[in-house]
Amino acid sequence: MSGELSVEALTAGYHDTPVIKALSLPALSPGEVISLVGPNAAGKSTLLRALAGLLPATGRLRLGGQDLLAMGIAARASLVTYMPQALPQGVGLSVLETLMSALEVAALDLSEKARIARAVGVLERLGVAQLAMRRLDELSGGQRQLAALAQALVRTPRVLLLDEPTSALDLHYQLRVLDLARETAREQGMIVMIVLHDLQAAARVSDRVAVLSQGAIDAFGAPEDAITPEVLARVYHVSARVERCARGRLQVIVDDVLR
Ligand SMILES: Nc1ncnc2c1ncn2[C@@H]1O[C@H](COP(=O)(O)OP(=O)(O)OP(=O)(O)O)[C@@H](O)[C@H]1O
Ligand SMILES: [Mg+2]
Repeated sequence: MSGELSVEALTAGYHDTPVIKALSLPALSPGEVISLVGPNAAGKSTLLRALAGLLPATGRLRLGGQDLLAMGIAARASLVTYMPQALPQGVGLSVLETLMSALEVAALDLSEKARIARAVGVLERLGVAQLAMRRLDELSGGQRQLAALAQALVRTPRVLLLDEPTSALDLHYQLRVLDLARETAREQGMIVMIVLHDLQAAARVSDRVAVLSQGAIDAFGAPEDAITPEVLARVYHVSARVERCARGRLQVIVDDVLR
């Protein structure tokens, strides 16, 4: 199907040591949200960096008919945006200025007025319009994470890769950000891949969940198929139950740590 992201036998790592080993995924469709979960050091950030072209990779990586691995950096960056796990450095620019420069990098054919409207629109939808004129280096950790998210969202790429985008956020903004990621995926036909440690949040936001363990996919599918007591025991070494709450949402209840 046009616009699908296909990942086949992707291998990537550091200094000739592969972290992601010949990893393949079923085709990912435009408008779809995929959560990437798994233990520390499983290779989640490495996979996202490899998908974004920030690490050399071998294998096959195609978006629609286009070969991403053969593409130049600028062309690829206009299709795929990566929001890193680390909070952005506090530069002396206002939040709005950082969004304007993100739009410039994305080389979208928009007038300045249209760029400002788009930047302010994203801040409003994230619930942080009041931060527009604040300097990044004067923000709290959570506010800086929201500003980084706004920088990623404003570019409206075809593939959006978010590495633990809610790690610094309070409960309200965690849910707000995840809901907005889902809405944006649907509205723009964007493929959104989100690294999360919170499995309940992953089940809530995503159409499908990929469980990564030691650089390989351990489980992939609808949340209820990928997040199971067996997978949790095997991958996280915990004894857990997966139940549905009164509203039907998946709940993970951990009983014991398996040693
Ligand atoms: N810049 C680097 N140079 C060398 N090795 C690295 C580098 N970054 C990560 N690694 C190694 O690659 C492996 C996977 O790391 P990665 O950051 O992808 O894990 P992760 O799944 O994102 O973990 P976390 O949940 O802790 O963020 C780890 O063994 C890590 O030590
Ligand atoms: Mg990581």
